[in-house]
Amino acid sequence: MSLADFVRGLPKAELHMHIEGSLEPELMFALAARNRIDLPFKSVEAVRAAYAFSNLQDFLDIYYQGAQVLQTEADFQDLAMAYFRRLAADGGVHAEMFFDPQTHTDRGLPFSVAINGLLAGMAQAERELGVTSKLILCYLRHLDEDAAFATLKAAEPWLDRIAGVGLDSSEVGHPPSKFARVFEASRAAGLKLVAHAGEEGPPAYVWEALDLLKVDRIDHGNRSLEDARLTERLVAEGMTLTVCPLSNLKLCVVDDLAAHPLKRMLDLGLKATVNSDDPAYFGGYLLDNYLRTAEAVGLTRAELVTLAKNSFAGSFLDDADKAARIAQIDAYAAAN
Ligand code: HPA
Ligand code: ZN
Repeated sequence: MSLADFVRGLPKAELHMHIEGSLEPELMFALAARNRIDLPFKSVEAVRAAYAFSNLQDFLDIYYQGAQVLQTEADFQDLAMAYFRRLAADGGVHAEMFFDPQTHTDRGLPFSVAINGLLAGMAQAERELGVTSKLILCYLRHLDEDAAFATLKAAEPWLDRIAGVGLDSSEVGHPPSKFARVFEASRAAGLKLVAHAGEEGPPAYVWEALDLLKVDRIDHGNRSLEDARLTERLVAEGMTLTVCPLSNLKLCVVDDLAAHPLKRMLDLGLKATVNSDDPAYFGGYLLDNYLRTAEAVGLTRAELVTLAKNSFAGSFLDDADKAARIAQIDAYAAAN
């Protein structure tokens, strides 16, 4: 069996994917037409040509602009279903999906629109594709903590359908410490906690995410490798890192995929996982991230199996579901 077929057939979970970042240019144009919104681009090709980024902020500027075509619950449902179809085609069976409510409420949409549409898409994906999912509400870190508290308050009627909260957007200059109180309140509300840290920000931000936010997973975490004590701590705690290789390439976190630290992370004993981050913007969905990285850094089939197992072990599924998925991977690996 080819490596591509082997990895496609491996059950996988995706733990780091921003649903607004799965908006393909074709759907962007379709939603702009449906909602009578003018786009600053003439064609799908012109949109794709604009996706040349030299850092995180370059990307975020265009990502927030693209999200403006999302206006109705149906738009969010269609967006989610388009992603789930790609995930299912890649052999993904479970996703823990980020959304950025403030990106939508700040342009006048009621809080209910994005979340109701996404929940409808998640239910449809489970019915039609057998793909399960959970929702993670991200606070935008370039805004202040009061705005995050207002978002947590707005989310109250949906708390039983939100698995956790995260922290995304512009990292440098917006350390985790800025959000310690709202993460404490989110934990008290029964939510799991994750945060982007160590993508562009220094190892100190990863320490803060651990010590001040008390996160259950670190999103990205690449720069942790600059600090040996931090690396030891992450290994000792079995902390999951949601690594996004093609994102790292597109945002110039690495110069070259061959220089990506994923293999080194596994060698060090870190619980790394592979994820697509913003697949419509970064040139690949889940399977592409596995395969292109495997080719660039030379991952063995055993390492690819470990990555898939890590994706379930680090998920927010319950222990019985995790064990069942890991047993399924073991059976698949033994048979192939
Ligand atoms: N990093 C930080 N914030 C984000 C990203 C990312 O890769 N994608 C969407 N928001
Ligand atoms: Zn991200």
